[in-house]
Amino acid sequence: MIPVNEPKLGEKEVEYVMECLRTGWISSAGKYIEEFERCWAEYCEMPQAIAVSNGTVALEAAVACIDLQPGDEVIMPAFTIISCALAVVEHGGVPVLVDSDPDTWCMDVDQIAPKITPRTRAIMPVHIYGHPVDMDPIRALADMHGLLIIEDAAEAHGAEYKGRRCGGLGDISCFSFYANKIVTTGEGGMILARDEVLAEKLRAYRNLCFRPERRFYHTDLGRNYRMTNIQAAIGLAQVREIESHLVHKRWMAEAYNNNLKELSQLQLPVEKAWARNVYWMYGLVIDESTGMDAVEFARRLREYKVETRPFFLGMHEQPVFHKRGLFLEEHYPIAERIARQGLYLPSGLTLTEEQLDAVCRAIKVLFLA
Ligand SMILES: Cc1ncc(COP(=O)(O)O)c(C=O)c1O
Repeated sequence: MIPVNEPKLGEKEVEYVMECLRTGWISSAGKYIEEFERCWAEYCEMPQAIAVSNGTVALEAAVACIDLQPGDEVIMPAFTIISCALAVVEHGGVPVLVDSDPDTWCMDVDQIAPKITPRTRAIMPVHIYGHPVDMDPIRALADMHGLLIIEDAAEAHGAEYKGRRCGGLGDISCFSFYANKIVTTGEGGMILARDEVLAEKLRAYRNLCFRPERRFYHTDLGRNYRMTNIQAAIGLAQVREIESHLVHKRWMAEAYNNNLKELSQLQLPVEKAWARNVYWMYGLVIDESTGMDAVEFARRLREYKVETRPFFLGMHEQPVFHKRGLFLEEHYPIAERIARQGLYLPSGLTLTEEQLDAVCRAIKVLFLA
């Protein structure tokens, strides 16, 4: 089976992890945490970094620390991972959805303004599969209405919007370092913040809101979202290799594009003039005229030993939210279509030319037969 993803780990990762083990710095204190935070903040040009245990809790902590009140609204794409909506719902807030741009699959920024109400507190753009969201209109709306921007850059390590790195464009940004991400720590996440006071709040929240002057006395409820020094050691080694990871993703995207562009049944990923797409995952949307949806396409590719993953299912199509009375009767046609017709191909950092050729051959056999 050609795997949809595999992490790429090298000797530096082994060396740094071994150092943690040899020195006993295996928990959440240690030099790698600080160094990883410093490097990631610098890479994204944000002043404050808080390493956490995964991307889902990064979003939850971000929402918790802006003091979202019950009934407050956060505007986000329908087409995203549940972590975004979960973070808001957990704090009594209301996720307000917008549809996707049909080309980039990111949130359609033209649909945001009509959704702003007096209860709107924040906008949560999500850079989907490595392509940046069109951020300037979001910044303009946020400034006009006094809203915060919580960027979800989990899938867009190293991506750029008008020459600026994703994760450095909002007020707060959240990352995942899960094993399939461009930079991984196995499980892990990071929050970057512009504001120092907010960053201190996030640091306290990550660590059960212990107080420095009186440890077991609490004035706020926090969580244990700490990252370990071992995870940060892997992360630091990975950050030092990020440029080579990005080169591999671009090679992959160009090779898939060249091989598949003649197939009119497939919509391929784009790169807008203002964007640097990092092609975290190489997604495809299959035309309905083929008589196939993504489930059937994935099943057929599996017969050729090609593993794929389906696209996200929109938040408005999730029974768990319907049970809570959310998004009933809401429709987002683009998100619905790409959820049914979209999947991504093997896109890992260890993908070889032979594997990529085999994937393309399988697709061509399916469509040209
Ligand atoms: C856009 C996005 N946000 C958040 C997350 C959550 O990250 P994690 O799996 O580390 O909890 C993911 C996970 O892949 C993601 O793709």
